[in-house]
Amino acid sequence: MPLREIKINAATMIYRVVIEPGSISGVGKALRLLFPSTKTLLVSDLNVDRIYGQEVVKSLEAEKWQVTTVVVRPGERAKSLKKAAHLYDSAIAAGLDRNSPVIALGGGVIGDLAGFIAATYLRGVPLVMVPTSLLAQVDSSVGGKVAVNHPRGKNLIGSIYPPRLVLIDPKVLTTLPFRQIKAGLAEVIKYGIIADGAFFAWLEKNIDRLLATNIEALTDAVTLSVMNKARVVEADEYEVDYRRVLNFGHTIGHALEAATDYSHYLHGEAVMVGMAVATRIAHKLDIIGSEDAARILNLLQRIDLKDAPADLTAEAVIDKLRQDKKRRNGEIFFVLPQSVGSASVIAVSDQKLIREAVKTGMRLEGL
Ligand SMILES: NC(=O)c1ccc[n+]([C@@H]2O[C@H](COP(=O)([O-])OP(=O)(O)OC[C@H]3O[C@@H](n4cnc5c(N)ncnc54)[C@H](O)[C@@H]3O)[C@@H](O)[C@H]2O)c1
Repeated sequence: MPLREIKINAATMIYRVVIEPGSISGVGKALRLLFPSTKTLLVSDLNVDRIYGQEVVKSLEAEKWQVTTVVVRPGERAKSLKKAAHLYDSAIAAGLDRNSPVIALGGGVIGDLAGFIAATYLRGVPLVMVPTSLLAQVDSSVGGKVAVNHPRGKNLIGSIYPPRLVLIDPKVLTTLPFRQIKAGLAEVIKYGIIADGAFFAWLEKNIDRLLATNIEALTDAVTLSVMNKARVVEADEYEVDYRRVLNFGHTIGHALEAATDYSHYLHGEAVMVGMAVATRIAHKLDIIGSEDAARILNLLQRIDLKDAPADLTAEAVIDKLRQDKKRRNGEIFFVLPQSVGSASVIAVSDQKLIREAVKTGMRLEGL
């Protein structure tokens, strides 16, 4: 399969996203072409390091890189200021200078954490993303958002700091747990719904191949997703307006995650239910026609939506929605689809309609 390359115009630089099956063994060479330094900080988590760490270190050392590796426990808790402090200590102890790249080898957690370090250590050192989860390949590694969490909320401390290079090897998805593949597909489908009707039609035809972890199909899906994300991010890198469409499904998704203490849903699973509920709201408000709404809901059902826990009430989810920063004067801002391939941010004030959509939607009824 040929190498695919997408160039992204960020405000401060142009960077490349390279999508190539097998490229994980070429990390060292790719970095050697870009940076004159001899030192690098490789950040990963235990799961990813166990499978790919050695191969990546070997490829770096073959190109004369002195590698300092920091491996954190898998999971969202690694995105903390405490862990960030530990990474700064390692960078300082290793004597990393302003030209020494930080490499994020892992899913979105590692990308956000290592990206935050790269953005702040010595006021910014080069960042290279080697995303290994589907979500990280199609979403978090592109667009420059980096962050750690605060006890009061997710991603409260961060920046927009574009990477110098994103190196995507779709083959690594063969070791990703199936539940994570399905959760990542939520973000893939999102691009089809909000920005690319032709991609959505392709997904309708190829969803079974994607669910079977077919690498050729996944490579196509990753490429088209990155192209779509690039288009949105180039139009509005700092999320003044248009970039907000990427939050499709996220208003309700975040509320579901928060109301269940981030322990019931994976992010993508909650977003999938959120996309279904938002589509239902759009349909009730006559913003989207019945045929397009049915196509969206059908595709989401084929991936398999996750039911809410038995003890979760609609009121608890609405409470979290009320605390959401996308709320103003009793109105809640939702990204709503207008058709398959387009969406916009719309303020909804009909509380009864929202309540009904959440209540039935989280139980997967009436969708
Ligand atoms: N910066 C952004 O624009 C952006 C966008 C969306 C999400 N995010 C962030 O991304 C994070 C979620 O990312 P995620 O879903 O990738 O979670 P994650 O990083 O926790 O990875 C999911 C799990 O898969 C494992 N894993 C990853 N790649 C693997 C592979 N190839 N083989 C085997 N196991 C593998 C990890 O160890 C982990 O257990 C959240 O913190 C979220 O806030 C950031």
